Order: sequence, then C-alpha cells, then structure tokens
Amino acid sequence: MGYKVAVVGATGNVGREMLDILAERAFPADEVVALASRRSQGQEVSFGDKILKVKVLDTYDFSDTDICLMSAGGEASKEWSPRIGQSGCVVIDNSSAFRYDADVPLIVPEVNADAVEGFTKRNIIANPNCSTAQLVVALKPLHEAATIKRVVVSTYQSVSGAGKDAMDELFSQTRAVFTAGEVVQKKFTKRIAFNVIPHIDVFMEDGYTKEEWKMVAETKKMLDPKIKLTATAVRVPVFIGHAESVNVEFERPLSPEQATEILRSAPGVLVIDKRENGGYMTPHEAAGEDATYISRIREDATVENGLNFWCVSDNLRKGAALNAVQIAEVLVNRKLLNKAKRAA
Ligand SMILES: NC(=O)c1ccc[n+]([C@@H]2O[C@H](COP(=O)([O-])OP(=O)(O)OC[C@H]3O[C@@H](n4cnc5c(N)ncnc54)[C@H](OP(=O)(O)O)[C@@H]3O)[C@@H](O)[C@H]2O)c1
Repeated sequence: MGYKVAVVGATGNVGREMLDILAERAFPADEVVALASRRSQGQEVSFGDKILKVKVLDTYDFSDTDICLMSAGGEASKEWSPRIGQSGCVVIDNSSAFRYDADVPLIVPEVNADAVEGFTKRNIIANPNCSTAQLVVALKPLHEAATIKRVVVSTYQSVSGAGKDAMDELFSQTRAVFTAGEVVQKKFTKRIAFNVIPHIDVFMEDGYTKEEWKMVAETKKMLDPKIKLTATAVRVPVFIGHAESVNVEFERPLSPEQATEILRSAPGVLVIDKRENGGYMTPHEAAGEDATYISRIREDATVENGLNFWCVSDNLRKGAALNAVQIAEVLVNRKLLNKAKRAA
C-alpha cells in the first residue's frame, strides 16, 4: 500500500523541488497533492511525468493524508502545521516555526535519525535551516572521531535560499546593470547583483542575525549542546548552492588525512579535494546534486587540533526538499506512520 502525500508551497522553490525528489526517488505514494495559496489555485506543477493542478491549502481536508511536506513559510506553518498534525497527518516542516520546540524533533537523517521517534507529541517534524543541514552532515563524522569543541563558520549563501522572488531580483538587477536600466531593490536590503550582503534574516540584540543564531541553536539541538559555534552568514549573487568556510577545533588530534578518510566514508558526503587548479567544488557544480561536498581540508596550525575545510551543497535539495523527503522515508522504513494516526 502506498501513502497519500501533500506538498504545501508546491509553486515555490522548495515545493517544486520536493515534487521532483518524490518522483526521482520513487517515494511510495499512491497520491500526491499539490497545495499553495489562493493566488495559485488551478496552476499546474510537474510531478515526474504527471501534471498536478494546485489546490488551495485553506480548504483542503487532511484527514486521509499521511504526510504533509510543508514549505509555505513560517506564518503559514504556525497557523496550519498544528491543525494538520492534529488530523493525524505527519507534518515535515521546512520553516523555522517549530525547530526549537522541545516537542518537535529537528532531523537530518545522516545525523540524528533516531530522534524522529519523538514526533508523536505534535505530529510535527522540523527540517533545519539550509546552511545548518549541510554543516551538520559534515561535522557529525568528525565529531564522532575527535569531539568538536568549537566551530567558526562563514557562509556564502545563494539567493534561492530567500525564495523565488529573490532569484527574480538577482536576475532583473543583473540585466539592469548590463542594460544601464534601473536597479530595483525589494527583497534584499542592498543591491545583490555583483555584490555580497553580510545580512540574512533579522538583526538580534547581540548584533548577530537570526540566520547566524539558527546555525548555533540547530547545531546544538541536532549534534551536541556542548559544541560552541559562531557564524557569519552572507548572501552572494549565486542562484543555487550554499558554500561555507568552516574552522573546527577538536578535543583530540585529527590530521587532514584522517579527516579526509572519515569524510570519504560518511553518509551524504562526497570529498573533492585535489589541491590543484579546479580540484574543489563550487556551488554552480553542486546545483541539482544531493551530496554535501567537502574540499580544501587542511590543518589550522594556529590552534591545537584545528582543521579548516570548504563545504558546498544545493540548498534547495539537502538544505530543504531532499532532507524533508529523506525524513519521510525514515517514517516509512521504520513503519512509524500508523503511530501518528494513533497519536491523533
Ligand atoms: N529556499 C531554501 O533554501 C530553504 C531552505 C530551508 C527552508 N526553507 C523554507 O521553506 C519555505 C519555503 O521557501 P521557498 O524558498 O520555497 O519560498 P518561495 O519560493 O517564496 O515559495 C513559497 C511557497 O509558499 C506558498 N505560500 C505562501 N504563503 C502561503 C499561504 N498562506 N498558504 C498556502 N501557501 C502559501 C506559496 O504559494 P503561492 O505561489 O500561492 O504564493 C509558494 O508555493 C520557507 O519557510 C523557507 O524558510 C527554504
């Protein structure tokens, strides 16, 4: 028997990717339903070789739906995810609305798949922020080998992380620069074309941005609350793919060669590290791929037991849609969906 799956936000960047990934991985669904706001009612979206007509979230009855992949932003999620969960459908939520709720597991399957069992309290499972997802996939095997004390991470995040309107803004600003037209700024606080912006999400009282705070809180929740992490999150004029420069201090020695060997056999990771021209990964090449790519693994000789590396992944896939579908696969493989119905 297959499952009934709803994708909320099916017209958005992440939702469209979710539909592609469900089809690519032949997720055992008998029926897939595409949902969005009233603005998109009747619009058509692709699901494998099928076309789905978009239905409206507000009027949809979830009582016979098994899994809802929710990707419609924090406000819609706060309003809808608890209600959908109460109807017995398990919500896998891409927004930050429930990530820090103690009754909601925050899951990256390569890192903490076992924690998924705690979902029955609210029938909601949270997907992490895109920059945290790829980071913890890389950190987990290194933490197991030598215990991480502290991480310093700087991100280079693509505009697709801010939604489809943000991609349009980079495109239209780039065109305007070339045609000497007016460069219109709506989504970003400064021009993004041919520029970089050290500001993602809102500022907090301590001077960090919410995006930076999320990386700290989510790494602690999924990996280890004892890890100290400090982040600088930067938006760059790239359409798809986030990159990160990562500095790690360990309790015990770990050579670049040992780290390379560990990462080569880690789930979800591919090491591309040739120490020659082009022997590393860039976001452009990672777009459309599932792996978290690690390059430039080298010693940081300025601290005891330090390493630096470069980490790249497709933010719409591992950072959002792929991770959500992998969580759904964990629910199916561990036969946890009936538990959700009983909990409701
Ligand atoms: N992009 C990433 O890398 C990434 C990574 C991790 C998490 N996320 C999270 O995933 C969510 C979606 O991101 P996105 O990049 O896909 O955004 P997006 O491209 O702007 O798409 C937003 C989607 O949500 C729908 N929507 C908005 N308000 C709604 C409402 N009230 N009711 C029903 N549907 C509604 C939109 O439908 P209409 O077309 O009808 O407006 C659209 O389908 C956000 O919470 C984001 O923080 C994104």
